[in-house]
Amino acid sequence: MKRLVIISNRVPPMKTRGRAAAGGLAAGLSSALKAFGGLWFGWSGEVKDTQETKVSTHRQDNYTLATLHLSRENHEEYYNGFANRALWPLCHYRPNLVAYDRSFGVGYYRVNVLFAEAVMPLLEAEDTIWVQDYHLIPLGAELQRLGAKQKMGFFLHIPWPASELVITLPEHRALVRALFAYGVVGFQTDRDVQSFLDYVIREADGALEPDGRVTCFGRTIHVKAFPIGIDAGSIATLATQPEATAHAVRLVDSLAGRQLIIGVDRLDYSKGIDRRFSAYAKLLGKYPEHRAKVSLLQIAPPSRMEVSAYRAMRRELERLLGRINGEFADYDWVPLRYVNKTYNHTALAGLYRTARVAFVTPLRDGMNLVAKEFIAAQDPEDPGVLVLSRFAGAARQLREALIVNPFDEQSMVDALHRGLKMPLEERKSRWRSLMTNVEEHDIDRWRESFLNTLTAA
Ligand code: F6P
Repeated sequence: MKRLVIISNRVPPMKTRGRAAAGGLAAGLSSALKAFGGLWFGWSGEVKDTQETKVSTHRQDNYTLATLHLSRENHEEYYNGFANRALWPLCHYRPNLVAYDRSFGVGYYRVNVLFAEAVMPLLEAEDTIWVQDYHLIPLGAELQRLGAKQKMGFFLHIPWPASELVITLPEHRALVRALFAYGVVGFQTDRDVQSFLDYVIREADGALEPDGRVTCFGRTIHVKAFPIGIDAGSIATLATQPEATAHAVRLVDSLAGRQLIIGVDRLDYSKGIDRRFSAYAKLLGKYPEHRAKVSLLQIAPPSRMEVSAYRAMRRELERLLGRINGEFADYDWVPLRYVNKTYNHTALAGLYRTARVAFVTPLRDGMNLVAKEFIAAQDPEDPGVLVLSRFAGAARQLREALIVNPFDEQSMVDALHRGLKMPLEERKSRWRSLMTNVEEHDIDRWRESFLNTLTAA
């Protein structure tokens, strides 16, 4: 492969601005592109009153970052609208939160065309193009319409839902048809692949070929699970750096000998933070031995606040926080610490290493890299315990975690209690298996397996 071109809605932070990466996607792909060099194209993160079609470029590490602004209308209809009011809730099994408007679909396609037209002049004949995530499903088809002949793959970072949900979307057929423009379509788990195949075969008269490929809409493509991983070695190293240790020391001092439970998520209803808070309150109610002996630190940087479901979630968390702290706090103990700040990876690695339990309980999640980063950041001689929702893609790999059902509060309460009391030997043996898995299925393996499939396609 000569040059890798990654196209995604979010791009990694420009080094000159030094912001922390917004989500797992940016973090995961930066290391992939650093290894290859090439081009990363996406939205600059800025919204302007007019649409500038001029692409800004910026050289960093060994790749070029090329970005485009969005107009207010495009931002509203494509990002806030179709991507985050329709696709996101639907793919996370929350059809009741879908607020669909026909203009969203129009804006979504308009931005995909805009992206295709803007990136087209930057492409070289031998490039391999890798399109990321639900914002840009139609991009490959649009590039081909403009004459692109390069190999193109697509990876979906979020879940692909059951067909009964997919068909509630007016554009479902056009969307799935667009995926068949790619030579390889990757999902996080086998379950996502199964749901996708179910749609293709039952709703679109597609067929599974004897070699495992899938034919539909006159095209035959590879459809496979490629569970995304992390750079485990570098997180483990970060966790012992002086900067990480300084954060850890500050946190340990503030805990005054108490055990720490940690949660780190974008403030998103799919993460189940409200149910997590309630389960924690139940733990304090049911097991008084933990009162004043434990603190839950929930880090939740706000996200997508122009979407009302996110604002409602934020209000609900603030209400629960007040209730729980009001009920259980003492003058020298705050049971629940809730922080809306974003921390960089080094700080987070230090905080993860301090925690006895990571409480990772999404109601639905494509993978969940926090679970993997928590494991990688642990002290092998005194590791913490991972409490993990069965509805995170990561639960299919991290089987030695304490797996819970976030819809069953009692299962979360019991797992928290068990994690807080778990003897050192059991913590070590579970952690060793988890760490082996995180190391084996790391970000390099994810990138290589996807790109090898695409190259051979
Ligand atoms: O991983 C899913 C994802 O939507 C990414 O595509 C995105 O970078 C991240 O979550 C953060 O969301 P947003 O870009 O909407 O802030």
